[in-house]
Amino acid sequence: MKNWLNYFEHNRTHRAEIDWQKPIELAHALRAPLIRSLQRFQVGESGEGNHLRSHAATTGDPAYQAAIELFIKEEQEHARLMACILQKQNAPLLKMHWSDGCFILLRRLFGLRHELLVLLIPEMIAKRYFRALRDRFDDPALKAVFSQILHDEDGHLGFHVDFLQAALVSLSLPERALLRLVWRLVFRAACLVVIVDHRTILRAVGVSATTFWWDCGLLFDEVAAAILSRAPTPVSARFARILPG
Ligand SMILES: [Fe+2]
Ligand SMILES: [Fe+2]
Repeated sequence: MKNWLNYFEHNRTHRAEIDWQKPIELAHALRAPLIRSLQRFQVGESGEGNHLRSHAATTGDPAYQAAIELFIKEEQEHARLMACILQKQNAPLLKMHWSDGCFILLRRLFGLRHELLVLLIPEMIAKRYFRALRDRFDDPALKAVFSQILHDEDGHLGFHVDFLQAALVSLSLPERALLRLVWRLVFRAACLVVIVDHRTILRAVGVSATTFWWDCGLLFDEVAAAILSRAPTPVSARFARILPG
């Protein structure tokens, strides 16, 4: 787990430079859908992380706990960056959104391993979502924010996959198959919610519901294979390119 602590420490001090002084250039057709969509993502990333922190403490691994702490801070930084964009657009921040409430409830029902499996669902979806935003927006501040979040989400996936690979190693084949099935069902339900709830921004940035659904599915397969295959892909093969040398 040492590598991941190094990664988060390195990532904390190597951030994209964002020029907040210039006004954000936003096409009229994109402004309202972006605000509406970012408000919902922003509230989802602004949690305190207390539950995850206390679950991580049960591992008794100080390096893992320290890495979780930096992971939580990174998610809060995403919330801060999105809040900056919204504030520059004079848009209010949400206090709560029902979809976020559902996720919090699901995450708290079980122990650390299940919490991380649930947490990975929005991480995977966020990766496709922020790629769509990064590819569509040309404003330098927006591009820098979305590129930074996308980079960070790659790290989050690798970090959780690495932990879960080891944590679930003792599962039998039928247990793995059942877990993958249930996990996929919850994942697909979350994809549907995002596709419906964020349809205007997805349409505005040129990503169809089918493309979003398909791409999220490919990402799920990749992550599930890394965690649940009998001979899992070493995390290094897929994610370690983001680890500092
Ligand atoms: Fe995030
Ligand atoms: Fe994340």
